Amino acid sequence: MVPLKRRRAAASGSDRPPRSGSTSKSAVRFPHVVIFLLERKMGASRRVFLSHLGRSKGFMVEETYSESVTHIVSEENSGDEVRAWVDSHPEGRKRERPACLLDISWYTESMREGLPVEILDRHILQEQQRNGVGDAVFSVPSYACQRNTPSQDHNSPLTDALSVLAESAEFNADEGRGVAFRRAAALLKSLDWRVTGAHQLRGLPCLGEHMLRVTKDILENGISSEVEATQQSKHYNSMKVLTGIFGVGVKTANRWFREGIHSLQLLRSSGYTLNRAQQAGLTYYDDLSQPVTKAEADAIGLIVKEAAISISPGAEITLTGGFRRGKATGHDVDFLITQPAECAEKGLIAKVVSRLESQGLLLYHTCSRNSYHESSKGPSRPSSSMDYFEKCFSIFKLSKDRVERQKEETSHPDTKTDLRPEAWRAVRVDLVVSPKSQFSYALLGWTGSKLFERELRRWAVQEKSMYLSSHALYDRKQARYLEASSEEEIFAHLGLEYIPPSARNA
Ligand code: UTP
Ligand code: MN
Repeated sequence: MVPLKRRRAAASGSDRPPRSGSTSKSAVRFPHVVIFLLERKMGASRRVFLSHLGRSKGFMVEETYSESVTHIVSEENSGDEVRAWVDSHPEGRKRERPACLLDISWYTESMREGLPVEILDRHILQEQQRNGVGDAVFSVPSYACQRNTPSQDHNSPLTDALSVLAESAEFNADEGRGVAFRRAAALLKSLDWRVTGAHQLRGLPCLGEHMLRVTKDILENGISSEVEATQQSKHYNSMKVLTGIFGVGVKTANRWFREGIHSLQLLRSSGYTLNRAQQAGLTYYDDLSQPVTKAEADAIGLIVKEAAISISPGAEITLTGGFRRGKATGHDVDFLITQPAECAEKGLIAKVVSRLESQGLLLYHTCSRNSYHESSKGPSRPSSSMDYFEKCFSIFKLSKDRVERQKEETSHPDTKTDLRPEAWRAVRVDLVVSPKSQFSYALLGWTGSKLFERELRRWAVQEKSMYLSSHALYDRKQARYLEASSEEEIFAHLGLEYIPPSARNA
């Protein structure tokens, strides 16, 4: 039995240098997480108990506060109280990035899970006064919808690598893992500085052990063996080709892969019966794998506008998806169509499509009718990426002349280009029709990015007890739907700072 005095001394955050072997009894499982439990208000005996518990689960729990500490955990303290304590302890100052100040709930949840859980907003102690270098890093919020993510990426070698692992997880139908890698990639993409050392990432949210290992490999050796192996694997490469066919999802591609279909050639010669979408996807594969340019998107925008207005003069057409976020190219072009008069939009898509078809502009299309029902009891599913708008997934036959002509007319309005022999390319186009009352939600939902949308819905449920979809926002506490006439209002309902489309490239 250790004498009480010695136990006390060991438990308090004294000025002694950090002792090695703070987890001497168990192997350290999470070397990037160095925890310091603040005794203030927690009490010495509870601190000793919690420290032992953490160490027994492979956590590094330091007895003394030092520059190596990444997570300061306290109980019943305000953020300002902990900050004041930290500021009065110079031994932590040498840290390039300050440690995160966390509530005990993060620690107890991590104990329960047996690993450092993702740092959520509710775990972070709120501080009134924040100052000092490096704070910016630790104020990186954990949800992508709380951050600005421009299209410029300062950490593309890292984000590309994590995206490969995300894709690979998705190809293995492991959605949870896929999302975790996507979140990690999005976090690094949101940084407006280039990461040069793994130590700079300690304490950042969304970066689990696995992600830190991969980024460390790339930062130190230029490559990650795991990513290299993935990119060379037969499954990954075949899945990339097969899921790249319009109309083919992960499930179908995996079934074909298991049956030995590993390439387009094998699929073409297999004699398999393909559905209409897949047939079109295979026929126009080369064109559809070429990026769509902004000039092409604009040319299609004019065609769609002409068609919609000729049918319904008040129709409003908005370019959404990646192009609305300012991306220079995309895999398709997304449009949202609405009508100032409620209900006047009903059946519009069928008429627009039949007009485009009569002009010979469609290579493929499939339309669906609006099937949205608003239940007074709230949505049946918490937060869904599914929407029930009237819409059309199509493949356009886009004349290259039309694009060139329009480009020239925009830059030299007086010149006329002679028509050249017909040359065209296939382009994927999504047309979505929304009632005016749901337009802001539809616009927000169709602007993306996919991860940004997913994070918005997760934020809504986890932090606000609300259900968000491309149709509506339902507040469970008030048991009612919240109306919005702009995207800004939706962000406000969600208690989020407004993020413009150009900063939603998560
Ligand atoms: P896209 O898949 O078109 O992505 O979906 P993108 O961001 O425009 O990127 P690229 O350049 O085409 O590759 C655009 C948005 O529309 C939503 C997605 O969630 C995404 O946010 N969407 C897409 C739907 O809500 N429903 C769909 O059926 C398809
Ligand atoms: Mn798109």
